Amino acid sequence: LIPSARVDELRRALLGWFAENKRDLPWRRSPSPYRVWVSEVMLQQTRVSVVEGYFARFMARFPTLEALAVAREEEVRGLWQGLGYYSRGRRLLEGARHVLREFEGRMPSEPSELLKVPGIGPYSAGAIASIAHGVRAPLVDGNVIRVLTRVFGLAGDPLKKDLQRKLWMLADELVPADVPGEFNQALMELGALVCTPRSPTCLTCPWRKLCVAHAEGNPERYPEKVEKERSTEVTVLVLVLEHRARLAFETLPSNARWWAGMTALPSIELGERTSGALSRDWAQHASSVS
Ligand code: ADE
Repeated sequence: LIPSARVDELRRALLGWFAENKRDLPWRRSPSPYRVWVSEVMLQQTRVSVVEGYFARFMARFPTLEALAVAREEEVRGLWQGLGYYSRGRRLLEGARHVLREFEGRMPSEPSELLKVPGIGPYSAGAIASIAHGVRAPLVDGNVIRVLTRVFGLAGDPLKKDLQRKLWMLADELVPADVPGEFNQALMELGALVCTPRSPTCLTCPWRKLCVAHAEGNPERYPEKVEKERSTEVTVLVLVLEHRARLAFETLPSNARWWAGMTALPSIELGERTSGALSRDWAQHASSVS
């Protein structure tokens, strides 16, 4: 898809920029397969600044895959609490147990093998293979979608099959055999620091002269926006129940609409209730809480 002279030019410019601009992040020091895996799972849908503290605490408690694999789920949930999307944590634990059982505790290095681990999808497989094992494997995440749709001027819905396939093919052509992990991280770093969703700083971009979206004058038109499901606002009444210097907590059921499986102060959704209905619901709720 891309002429080879252009592939060379793109690689050289991006790697040069990354060498000068890469952030010093905890998981970039000694990037073992396990550390890369944990960090990449935490970074899905969560900002770097939030992840740093969680990553440090998680590694202090579970320094190795074996340590995680034998952990109780409640403890993993406790360390994950506040990071959101707890199913990621549960799948990570499930995956660690799988690797211990099926691969004698050693993370596979090929994406096709990594994909057999519960919780590891194409993105994580590409990240672990390339960053931790130095295997030439592509990856596509939100940052990569943005950078590649802009530099190649790709219209269309980036979540639909056609464009997805094209993006993975482009990422695969671009990633070099000698430094695949550096390259993939550089691509994501460019998306995080320069080629941002709004007001990208094209002036400092190593790909400025090669970028279709920049030449067209409106980089923000890529990637095409798709209508997202609107978030809904809820009003929740939270009870601080103290008895002899002890606080009451409840563990929400695993099918709760939010905070599923989490331990939190007792709460119910307020909605539009009369005060009579409210106290009746509270009484019913309280009787179901242990
Ligand atoms: N976002 C998610 N993973 C990343 C990584 N390894 N480098 C830069 N940005 C990222």
